[in-house]
Amino acid sequence: MPIKAPRGTKDILPQEVGVWQYLEETFREVCSLFSYQEIKTPVFEEAALFVRGVGEDTDIVSKEMYNFKDKGGRELSLRPEGTAPIIRAYLEHSLYKEIPLLKLYYSGPMFRYDRPQAGRWRQFHHLGVEAIGSPQPALDGEVIALALYFLKRLKIKELNLQLNSVGCPTCRKTYQEVLQKHLKDKLPLLCSDCQNRFLNNPLRILDCKKESCQEVVRTIPPIFDYLCGDCREHFEGIKEYLEEMKIKYILAPHLVRGLDYYTKTAFEITSTHLGAQNALGGGGRYDGLVETCGGPSIPAVGMALGVERIIIALQEERIELPLKKKEETFIATVGEEAKREGFKLLSQLRAAGLAADLDYRPSSLKAQMRQGDKKGARFVIIIGEEELKKGLVSLRDLRQGKQEEIKKEEVIKVLKERRKL
Ligand code: HAM
Repeated sequence: MPIKAPRGTKDILPQEVGVWQYLEETFREVCSLFSYQEIKTPVFEEAALFVRGVGEDTDIVSKEMYNFKDKGGRELSLRPEGTAPIIRAYLEHSLYKEIPLLKLYYSGPMFRYDRPQAGRWRQFHHLGVEAIGSPQPALDGEVIALALYFLKRLKIKELNLQLNSVGCPTCRKTYQEVLQKHLKDKLPLLCSDCQNRFLNNPLRILDCKKESCQEVVRTIPPIFDYLCGDCREHFEGIKEYLEEMKIKYILAPHLVRGLDYYTKTAFEITSTHLGAQNALGGGGRYDGLVETCGGPSIPAVGMALGVERIIIALQEERIELPLKKKEETFIATVGEEAKREGFKLLSQLRAAGLAADLDYRPSSLKAQMRQGDKKGARFVIIIGEEELKKGLVSLRDLRQGKQEEIKKEEVIKVLKERRKL
């Protein structure tokens, strides 16, 4: 039996890769428009980074991490997310000493051992940003605006921005007490996971997807009523910035994200097309994470979008991305001498920066033409006995459906001109 890709992973085949490249390139363009710089970190890290950074009690760390010991006995994890690794790199290289406000972006695979289903993979891909060094709500606004600007560049329409504040450790403590008081008599109505959360992480109960828990959650007073002065001011600030930028939002007092580092802002961008896994992306502020990771107290905010889910939304909304058309030239030859000429021409074209290829198998002219067409070549150059005798080649433009004979020495010049048409 042939070996298959591991459950929850997916090959991205040549015919799909154009979309991936387009998304990555567009994200790069948008990030540089917003003045963010790229960072790349390893796909595995010390397990302790995520235990400390993301939180020991989160599902991501307690249930979904790919943990392993390397041959040197180190406890490592495949990264389940990109924020904690970036903060680790930020501290390790003392980047805060050089640039007081560092705006970074990243893309790459993340790993979570979750139950695979539509829109949920064990290896999936993030496009994300982290802006480290300012407590200003304007920066939260910028991060949200960047995510939406990128999704709008892709022409995705059915988007909702869900906005909440999860407060700071001080007001969150007050709210947790309110929750516990409110839920004390309703414990038997909650699922067993939420009964466990009641003591160590009651806020997470707000996020439980089970209908019986949701029914109870609906009766809980919103967190907004318990925010401290500073958190309230920050939340009002971010709403003002969003309104200024004409960005619509929905207040979502029960939105608590699955990572423990958030303070103040928490948001998600959802698509009506995605069903149960409806978040295209999410993020928020994490003013305590740099300190938790062993650094000074430096505030930060960020977000990540899921590439696989963006692709589902594109398909559901039937959006055709303006992928670049290939301008490749395919060389088809008949006979040994023509083949040698073809090879010579092939390297001349490539040296001139023109993408070109030929069929390396012994094939008939018809089969070679088919091959060129299948590869999506725009031009086919045919060299047969006739052409050799005359010192010419036949140039067929498959897009315009025209064929003409041209001098061998003029092929590069003519191709460069035709490509502009
Ligand atoms: P997250 O909400 O866990 O946030 O992930 C961000 C996005 O990744 C989700 O909204 C979803 O689109 C996608 N995603 C998550 N899990 C899966 C999965 N199993 N399969 C497919 N797609 C998935 C974070 O990871 C934070 N680090 C975001 C952040 C950055 N917060 C601040 N800075």
